[in-house]
Amino acid sequence: MRLACRRVIPFSVVFLAGVFLFSVLPGWAAAAQTSPSPHGGFTNSTSFCLVCHTTHNAAGVSLEPYALESAVCFTCHNGTGSSLNIEAEMNLDPNSNALHPIKVNLPNNNGTYSYTPNTTAGIAPPGPYDCSQCHNPHGDVGNGELLKQTYNTSEYVTYSTSPDPYAQCWTCHNSNTITTDKTLFPLHEVHIITDRASCSACHYSPHGVAGPKLIRFNPTYVFPSTIAGTGPAYVSGGANKGSCTLTCHGQDHNNASY
Ligand code: HEC
Ligand code: HEC
Ligand code: HEC
Ligand code: HEC
Ligand code: HEC
Repeated sequence: MRLACRRVIPFSVVFLAGVFLFSVLPGWAAAAQTSPSPHGGFTNSTSFCLVCHTTHNAAGVSLEPYALESAVCFTCHNGTGSSLNIEAEMNLDPNSNALHPIKVNLPNNNGTYSYTPNTTAGIAPPGPYDCSQCHNPHGDVGNGELLKQTYNTSEYVTYSTSPDPYAQCWTCHNSNTITTDKTLFPLHEVHIITDRASCSACHYSPHGVAGPKLIRFNPTYVFPSTIAGTGPAYVSGGANKGSCTLTCHGQDHNNASY
């Protein structure tokens, strides 16, 4: 008789109980989780997996709930679930701003980029890429910022090929071309090798920058020009030409051009 009783519990009740459990579980898990971040440090009882994966009917690959991986990331990285607002960095029109070609679908950027693959910077593969091309969403492997390879953003970095401080960039760009560059930015070599400046000094935001050529100066160690009283600023002069007004490494650049 008991068995018969069990059988009469309507399916809809079981289903609703399941829905209820699914809706409260993430809250319990957040309380049990030692790390406040959904990226790694997972406990055995974690339900953080569910913030990026669904168990059934996933629209994307790897059981992701959206067809575009970046849409999963932007559920938090839009200024709501995390203070790190990458959606804002990527929501720039690629025709008038510099963006790494990353797969997004946003009001000002539908994710189609026009650029010449395999330029002299040795770019391959041409893209566009998912966020996980450079990041490991499941936790940090020791490089910081969930990056798959090293990327040193310090003020002074001695360049060496082993270990290479900028290995993350060289998964696409040619290290030899950039570090010995005297044509694209004729001052790459002197800055990177002689002056020990990191990429981050001038390319501070790796996703997108309002303005040309992915130039944004690192605000922690690049300051206004004391002579000009303005900056730090970059003005493009067209292909492979431009000028800088700033102070960095104790050097003042007052509209210094190349
Ligand atoms: C912050 C978002 C996020 C969280 C949280 C997350 N994942 Fe993922 N996961 C992804 C993305 C994005 C991919 C696809 C890209 C990749 O493989 O790196 C993926 C891929 C996977 C894959 C495919 C194999 C692989 O590694 O490439 C498995 C299995 C997986 N996740 C399991 C889990 C489990 C189990 C948890 C919880 C302990 C979890 N994920 C939590 C975002 C996440
Ligand atoms: C459920 C919300 C959530 C989702 C979804 C999410 N993140 Fe995060 N992410 C966070 C939080 C919280 C932090 C910690 C920083 C903070 O407090 O804002 C973080 C930090 C990061 C960091 C910096 C880590 C560090 O060491 O400084 C990276 C990189 C990152 N996320 C990438 C991703 C990528 C790529 C995806 C999509 C695959 C993603 N995140 C999806 C919430 C999320
Ligand atoms: C071409 C490689 C690359 C791709 C693709 C990429 N990132 Fe990043 N991301 C980086 C690098 C490099 C850093 C570290 C920047 C630093 O330390 O100054 C970073 C840092 C971050 C951070 C930490 C905050 C910050 O801005 O420093 C977050 C969050 C993040 N990325 C999220 C994302 C999301 C979401 C996507 C997809 C929309 C994405 N990234 C795609 C290279 C990439
Ligand atoms: C996953 C491949 C990939 C990785 C990794 C990568 N890049 Fe790029 N990068 C590209 C592609 C493709 C372009 C050309 C995009 C365009 O012109 O629209 C590009 C363009 C650039 C540009 C020129 C932008 C412009 O508009 O002139 C700079 C600067 C740059 N990358 C710096 C970096 C730095 C610094 C790193 C390391 C943090 C890095 N890249 C890592 C693929 C990559
Ligand atoms: C002192 C500032 C500075 C530093 C440091 C720097 N760059 Fe650049 N980079 C520039 C400028 C300026 C340009 C734009 C040149 C132009 O087209 O006028 C540029 C252009 C580029 C381009 C695009 C080349 C092309 O095809 O036009 C890439 C890729 C790049 N940088 C990567 C890097 C990487 C990787 C690092 C670190 C290893 C780095 N840069 C360090 C200033 C810098």
